[in-house]
Amino acid sequence: MSDHDLSIISGSMVRSVLEGREDLVLEAVTNAYLAHAAGQTRSPRTQPLFTDGGRFFAMPASIADAQPIVGVKWVGSFVGNLAAGGERASATLIVNDAITGRPMAVVDGTLISAKRTAAGAAIALRLVAPSASLDSLGLVGCGPINYEVLRFVNHVLPVKNVYLADLDPARTEAFAARVRSEFPAVTPQASTLDEVLESADAVSFATNTSVPHIHSVPARPFVILHISLRDLAPSVIAGAYNIVDDVEHVCSARTSVHLASEELGHTRFIRGTIADLLSGALRYERPDGPTIVSPFGMAILDLAVLRVVLDRTASHPEVTRVANFRGGVWA
Ligand SMILES: NC(=O)c1ccc[n+]([C@@H]2O[C@H](COP(=O)([O-])OP(=O)(O)OC[C@H]3O[C@@H](n4cnc5c(N)ncnc54)[C@H](O)[C@@H]3O)[C@@H](O)[C@H]2O)c1
Repeated sequence: MSDHDLSIISGSMVRSVLEGREDLVLEAVTNAYLAHAAGQTRSPRTQPLFTDGGRFFAMPASIADAQPIVGVKWVGSFVGNLAAGGERASATLIVNDAITGRPMAVVDGTLISAKRTAAGAAIALRLVAPSASLDSLGLVGCGPINYEVLRFVNHVLPVKNVYLADLDPARTEAFAARVRSEFPAVTPQASTLDEVLESADAVSFATNTSVPHIHSVPARPFVILHISLRDLAPSVIAGAYNIVDDVEHVCSARTSVHLASEELGHTRFIRGTIADLLSGALRYERPDGPTIVSPFGMAILDLAVLRVVLDRTASHPEVTRVANFRGGVWA
């Protein structure tokens, strides 16, 4: 391949190389968090673009470790797709050569995004969970993100029961049917939001709400993975033990943590980051109340998982190679 060529990697290729490889995704995401903590990454603020019916985010990033990678995640979110039976989000990743800047690959990043999000949540949960398995995991929002959360949490902490809460009963039922067929050892049960919050050992929020709707949570020691970032009122955040992926990122874009930091005028309610837990810089002591993990989700995680995909598809015959994609200016 010349450095003017470009690879195009479809979502089905990504699926074929990542399916059943939760170990590789977890390792890539762990290393990306540690690289970020070590100052080896760049991850400027997400740039949003709002259009009629949807929103887009441009997320450039780089990792400058032994296998440097530079790229951008361009993700569209159209909630209206759900009514038509489609998925809300579509992500595309563009990778550039770290030495010359030339484009190298265009990749469907939708599954990568879901898996890296779920892997990050599972890594954090494993670090603060009281035991090596979970009797119950509550999932609020029965979309593809929480499905991957179940996959990754179940990989690191085998789950017995999954309590499902969604505003749309049809989505709950479809999700439960998927769980029964793919995870026969896990028992799904439709629940209310209150039941989930009262009883699950850990609760993952992956809804599509944009305004906080939960103004109190039970004062018991359980873990909330606040993946959708905007369900919990700032007062709930302020009263909990908080872990984030990156303080600056999560204190932006009107997340619940951002709103809490504005109300309080500081970020001292954030105890540390997932990388701090991984490195031992933060010694977690289980509080009497909830622990809330709010991962903003940096594109370095997508690039880290993408490296796995690029490695595993390097000579795959089904990757589309566009010869001389980059034409240059001078003929
Ligand atoms: N933090 C990160 O790194 C990261 C990465 C990817 C996606 N996300 C977020 O994860 C969320 C879920 O993504 P998805 O693609 O699975 O979404 P989706 O739109 O497919 O599904 C969301 C589900 O939540 C349900 N819902 C909405 N409000 C609810 C409420 N109040 N109570 C219960 N259910 C409710 C909807 O009915 C829907 O079924 C989105 O908010 C997305 O922005 C975060």
